[in-house]
Amino acid sequence: MEAIKIENIHKTFRSLKKKQKAVEGVSFCVDTGEIFGFLGPNGAGKSTTIKIIMDLIKTDEGKVLINGIDSTDYRARRNLGFLPENPSFVENLTGMETLMFQASMHNIQKREAADRADKLINLFELSDSADKQIRKYSKGMIQRLGIIAAIIHKPNIIILDEPMSGLDPIGRYLFKKTIKRLNKEGATIFFSSHIISDIEDLCSNVVILNKGKIIKTISKDEMKYLSSAGYKIIFEGDAESAAKAGKLSNINGVENLGETLYAITIKEAALFASVLEKLKELDLKIISIKPIGRDLESIFIKLMRSEK
Ligand SMILES: Nc1ncnc2c1ncn2[C@@H]1O[C@H](COP(=O)(O)OP(=O)(O)OP(=O)(O)O)[C@@H](O)[C@H]1O
Ligand SMILES: [Mg+2]
Repeated sequence: MEAIKIENIHKTFRSLKKKQKAVEGVSFCVDTGEIFGFLGPNGAGKSTTIKIIMDLIKTDEGKVLINGIDSTDYRARRNLGFLPENPSFVENLTGMETLMFQASMHNIQKREAADRADKLINLFELSDSADKQIRKYSKGMIQRLGIIAAIIHKPNIIILDEPMSGLDPIGRYLFKKTIKRLNKEGATIFFSSHIISDIEDLCSNVVILNKGKIIKTISKDEMKYLSSAGYKIIFEGDAESAAKAGKLSNINGVENLGETLYAITIKEAALFASVLEKLKELDLKIISIKPIGRDLESIFIKLMRSEK
């Protein structure tokens, strides 16, 4: 079943002088039980799409269905958890009070709410700040609280706009762990990011948005393939043999990394075996083989070229 169905949404922001097209005919589906990634560079239209899903702004055309219910119907958001792009809370409430307030809006009994809030505060390592006022929170602490606020009522669909922005490595780890667990327990998760590695290890499907349009919908395996730009083989040996190894066809020569250390970069998997064989033949010692990551921009370029 489709948890979120987006059908041909469009959004143009208009002011007196200027028109800014933010989303142009975006359609896709997030199936129930998926962790779905929404990837795109700054200004791609991710937040605009998410705001339309959440009915915070109106679409110019098309519609969004959440569990089959039109997103403009309040019932569509009954079982939804949401983290906005820049979460903000009442500054003079404490973290704990904020969560109790959130829980009360979902009709959760006080004792149950306190119990859930306690557990999540501990989980996201906010215990020391739970009784501090929000105005004393750092950016990452607000983000952690925002994530807790989005999940405290155990929603079955969770929509998060750049959930990992502002989080430190521990925060990111805790977030990923929690998302995986919630998904195992049955929640559908949809989140945006412009960082490919965040999406890579969590999502089963990814939509890539650029300039308001979907460039591609890809599976996890395709993502791994696209994000790999080749391999760097680092080896040790004498200069003469290294130069010979660099003369293999279809490689861009050999790079001296200092003293007796050299590297060959290969961009096609098909060359792998012949390079390794050649190094062995020349008695060169392989130190390491590292995959080279591709940044998001070059993935876009590759995708756009392949589309053409
Ligand atoms: N309220 C607004 N008024 C005018 N233009 C807007 C408004 N909100 C967004 N835009 C424009 O719409 C486009 C898409 O913006 P959006 O915030 O959806 O991008 P995004 O993919 O979320 O980017 P980021 O990664 O930076 O968060 C941008 O060109 C932006 O300037
Ligand atoms: Mg955004």
